[in-house]
Amino acid sequence: MFHFDYDATGQLLAEEVPLQKIAAELGTPTYVYAEATLTRHFRVYDQAFSAHSHLVCYAVKANTSGALLSLFASMGGGADIVSGGELFRALRAGVPTDRIVFSGVGKTAEEMQEALDAGILSFNVESEPELLLLDQVARARGVQAPVALRVNPNVDAKTHPYIATGLKESKFGVPITEGRRLAELVVRSPGLRLTGLDCHIGSQLTKLGPTLEALDSVLALADELRGAGHPLEHVDIGGGLGITYSGETPPHPDELGQAVTAKMKGRPELLILEPGRVIVGNAGILLSRVLYVKETKDRTFLVLDAAMNDLIRPSLYQAHHEIWPVERHPERGNFTVDVVGPICESGDTFAKARTLPRLLAGELVAILSAGAYGFSMASTYNSRRRAAEVLVSGDRFCAIRARETYESLVAGETLPPWQRGA
Ligand code: LLP
Repeated sequence: MFHFDYDATGQLLAEEVPLQKIAAELGTPTYVYAEATLTRHFRVYDQAFSAHSHLVCYAVKANTSGALLSLFASMGGGADIVSGGELFRALRAGVPTDRIVFSGVGKTAEEMQEALDAGILSFNVESEPELLLLDQVARARGVQAPVALRVNPNVDAKTHPYIATGLKESKFGVPITEGRRLAELVVRSPGLRLTGLDCHIGSQLTKLGPTLEALDSVLALADELRGAGHPLEHVDIGGGLGITYSGETPPHPDELGQAVTAKMKGRPELLILEPGRVIVGNAGILLSRVLYVKETKDRTFLVLDAAMNDLIRPSLYQAHHEIWPVERHPERGNFTVDVVGPICESGDTFAKARTLPRLLAGELVAILSAGAYGFSMASTYNSRRRAAEVLVSGDRFCAIRARETYESLVAGETLPPWQRGA
């Protein structure tokens, strides 16, 4: 269903390409993305909101690959960015500037300038001091910055605490009770133009209720502002729709789309959405090789060549990712193992006491649902080179990012003159 399926001989394919072939040509660990899944997910999500005028601003942080960004741009998508780096990537990938929204609690003056110069659609502003700085920066450039206030509706998104963002104690957004006052501050600021309201209550949401509750609060505030003479151009409800990693049953995008567009019916505002995970999560796997099967008295460890630096979600959020063998050997039966990486941390564990088909050293595995917050959260910890990324399309595949080299690991490093004897 996600275009990672076994063929009749028990080989795991990405679309029509055997993962064996990718590993043989490009090595491991390697991220592999299925274009058919990316395209389908984007289209399904986009069409789910077709009852109302809307713009899908893909959340770049989920997967920053230029090939993916330009694919979504070609399908009419925009970008939700959170840094100058993501702005750079979005522009480089050809995302039209009037489809870019800029979120995040810590925008710098420099990032504001860059985004103003680019002419983005909206700054999703998250605090009063940020408003004041944006006003200054815009005035210094003789322009007006389009502002959507990110409000915090204080709803419990019922997700992992690290990725819940809509509770009043979270650092994100301004309390919705402050919305009216800050909107009026925007209206009075010569460098700012009030264009919208924004919220994003969390990620990997598996229920619709909290998002709809947040939307109700945002729309009530939008009505209040319109009543006060400040009509809005857009309402942004963020991203957050969850995916199935193992057994979760999140709503289908159509359910979200129907419920949200019903609430937007007859309203003048453009609806903006910022999905990340739901588009890319299940469109990618991390392909890795078993280095060792290490047996101790108490446990069996499957030591992979991928590690927490490549995919940190299991270590950071105790996230579950399914692990499949790339070649099926049903005659071998199963074993129960801890699946670990080579990094010098006990937390470098992909799965604990997981029952898997019996694998041998040298064989390949696919770690599933790794398309979102996989490579984009990768580091070079332990001086491990970051993985290659591959895009598959039908029977073709291409390295859309080469594996990092030892040279690129140290790029930018230098010795201070006193160590060089200068
Ligand atoms: N918009 C804003 C303002 C966000 O902060 C995020 C994600 C999104 C949109 C996209 O949310 P999504 O549709 O992907 O749920 N690293 C974590 C997830 C962190 C999400 C951060 N914000 C993980 O691996 O689960």
